[in-house]
Amino acid sequence: MRKHKSFFWQMVWGAMILIAAFIFWPIETDNNFNRLDISDKQLVFNGKKIYSANCASCHGVNLEGQANWEQKGADGLYPAPPQTDAGHSWRHPDQYLIDAVKNGQFENGKPTNMPAFAESLTDAEIISVLTYIKSKWSAEKRAIQRKTQEDSLPGPAIYGAG
Ligand code: HEC
Repeated sequence: MRKHKSFFWQMVWGAMILIAAFIFWPIETDNNFNRLDISDKQLVFNGKKIYSANCASCHGVNLEGQANWEQKGADGLYPAPPQTDAGHSWRHPDQYLIDAVKNGQFENGKPTNMPAFAESLTDAEIISVLTYIKSKWSAEKRAIQRKTQEDSLPGPAIYGAG
């Protein structure tokens, strides 16, 4: 009887550990910096097409950004920054970039000219386009970005993506 009971609890613990592993798996993946993985050639290839269709109009065909992007325009908002080393996306961890594209960007609670793509792009497409952008950074900038990633706590992960 006793033996039977302890077997039952072993199964309960086993199930709980499995569930915990399942829940924490995506965060674990974040910590391994695999989210925007530029060695995934398919992701980069798809991302290039998504970039041309959705981002190039503002961020430039060659990711060069808009003219005078460092100064606010007549509308009181910043123009689109480059997505190359010349811009500042590489200063932010992956999760920040994913959030910026998914939800758009705000300054003091007011929307900037960076629109939200949550309605028009899937999570996998957002990850794809950002992986393409990351593939355009120099190894040096990628190393810096990797460091910011290490220092940042994982944000709310997008599940079921990529
Ligand atoms: C309508 C113009 C427009 C389009 C289209 C657009 N962006 Fe932006 N984006 C902006 C502007 C403007 C900013 C800067 C907002 C600010 O800080 O005021 C920005 C900022 C960003 C940032 C944050 C940079 C940083 O360092 O904080 C990322 C990442 C980004 N855009 C990626 C994308 C991607 C990827 C796409 C296509 C899926 C896209 N954008 C489409 C205008 C645009």
